[in-house]
Amino acid sequence: MKFDPAQSIQNLQYFGEFGGVNPSIEDSSTYTFLKASKMEEVFEKEVEGCYLYSRHWNPTNRYLSQALARMENTESAVVTASGMAAITATLLQLCSHGDEIVSSRVIYGGTYAFLKNVAPRFGIRTRFVDFTRPDEVEKAITPFTRVLYAESVSNPLLEVIDLQRIGEISKRNGLKFVVDNTFTPMILTPANWGADVVVHSLTKFINGTSDTVAGVVCGTHDFIHSLSDVSNGMIMLLGPVMDSHRAASILKNLHSLHLRMLQHSRNAQYVAERLTMENCDIRYPGLSDAPGHDVLTRLMNIGYGYGGMVLLNMGTREKAYALMERMQQANIGYLAVSLGFYKTLFSAPGSSTSSEIPDGERETMGLSDGLVRISIGLDANIEETTRKMMECIDAVNQNYQKPESISEDTSLYAAELR
Ligand SMILES: Cc1ncc(COP(=O)(O)O)c(C=O)c1O
Repeated sequence: MKFDPAQSIQNLQYFGEFGGVNPSIEDSSTYTFLKASKMEEVFEKEVEGCYLYSRHWNPTNRYLSQALARMENTESAVVTASGMAAITATLLQLCSHGDEIVSSRVIYGGTYAFLKNVAPRFGIRTRFVDFTRPDEVEKAITPFTRVLYAESVSNPLLEVIDLQRIGEISKRNGLKFVVDNTFTPMILTPANWGADVVVHSLTKFINGTSDTVAGVVCGTHDFIHSLSDVSNGMIMLLGPVMDSHRAASILKNLHSLHLRMLQHSRNAQYVAERLTMENCDIRYPGLSDAPGHDVLTRLMNIGYGYGGMVLLNMGTREKAYALMERMQQANIGYLAVSLGFYKTLFSAPGSSTSSEIPDGERETMGLSDGLVRISIGLDANIEETTRKMMECIDAVNQNYQKPESISEDTSLYAAELR
């Protein structure tokens, strides 16, 4: 299936109110009506070009939403104040008391915590299974299942989901397939393989400048409309609205996403290949013998590479911590959660972004404490960065000191950098 998300965005044309090359920012929380009867109509249904209140819809947010719907090849989209808002509103819209979700067991820790701890309070139960084994997914489906949930490339283990096969299972069982595509914008288009709803944390690659938290839900007109329904819509009623100034800035960043993804991927491919040659324990879906490489090669859009995320296993938590501190000191990047920034970011997911997952379950899925998740930046000279990385890894392997000093050192480095 040939689809080019960048071309799809390129074909958009928005003018500002006075002919500006950027669309105007609508800076109002509420909107006027000349006729009271029109206000009543807008409460009841969507009326083209009419706005009511910015928690419901805002023209600037609509521009960004339309551009993201183009990117994900869905009929419509709605932006939200965070990725978690997009995920939770979607799941609460699709599921009611008594319904079940079958979810990948390897997902972002916040989503896992929501499904495990919060959704059951509303009578929604989740079965966590290995989505790299589609037969396991099918087996977990019961008459109560409404939703299949997965990340296209999972956080943090970089497992690649066969969207096509899971999409077929979803369709065959009359379910809704919800995919978090945060790790692979441009690279994968889940809707082309059977996803009904695609969500993103825009906080990551799509915005790309680590200066905001934001999200989006992409899907059919009917589903997106249902989310902003004044009586039943989870976005309208829970209220995670994006600020319009932020929507305008993310839209500008979105127009360079295709170039950034390519550079992130090129750099990550180089780092992964180089460190593998040096006998480091690396997981990167662009390596030809990596699990999921063939699936990703079959499903990916051409021209954006295999993504910017690399996983390095240092063996122990102590070594992982020591390496991250050294890499920050060597100005390779920052010891910080999140991803998709122009500088390299690294964190140990076992004790940070996936710490919500209980110890025993992390072990079963292979999420060990020695893992370092690296979001490779847009470095112009990746050879130099990789050489410095190698020096840091060698130093940690050779000179590793007692773990007691680690936490003190971390705060020192952070304080120096601030
Ligand atoms: C894959 C994935 N989905 C969703 C989220 C949540 O997004 P946000 O932090 O924008 O709420 C994250 C955050 O790290 C993530 O990595």
